[in-house]
Amino acid sequence: MRSLSSRFLPKFAAPLAMAAIASLVFIAPASAQANVVNGASVFNSCAGCHKVGDGAQNASGPVLTDVIGRIAGTYEGYRFSNDLIAAGQSGLVWSEDNLAEFIADPSGFLKEFLDDSGARSKMPFRLRDEDNATDVAAYLASLN
Ligand code: HEC
Repeated sequence: MRSLSSRFLPKFAAPLAMAAIASLVFIAPASAQANVVNGASVFNSCAGCHKVGDGAQNASGPVLTDVIGRIAGTYEGYRFSNDLIAAGQSGLVWSEDNLAEFIADPSGFLKEFLDDSGARSKMPFRLRDEDNATDVAAYLASLN
């Protein structure tokens, strides 16, 4: 038994390693897709307050279609908090990175961005899971 495995293992080990490397090459682009797919399902936790897509209307939160690249606090017809408006006026433009940070802790994000310990966002929701936050940001970027 012992001699059998020592004779056969090395022969199989090399092709197995090759197969593992080959599958990694194929998995890499697929996982970028998976982020958006997971992000779409994560967005279900936002959808009660935020609408996306053609003809979307502001709800208790602003429309998020085309939010990536938008100046914070500027979506037409929505009453943003003064602090989110102030952040936009101080140069906050949504990117995938800062959006993922914002949703993890909206008020904490504004406190830091505005360097104002009294700053508050009126978004009453936090998404603490970093991977899900990154994925939902990728999903929103895919709508641009
Ligand atoms: C319970 C309601 C609610 C939920 C759930 C919610 N939000 Fe919000 N969101 C708001 C409100 C209210 C604002 C306005 C914040 C302000 O003016 O300070 C906001 C603002 C935002 C903004 C800033 C938009 C802009 O134009 O500047 C982004 C980005 C955002 N939310 C993303 C999300 C994402 C992504 C999720 C899900 C992970 C989510 N929100 C979940 C209520 C919600």
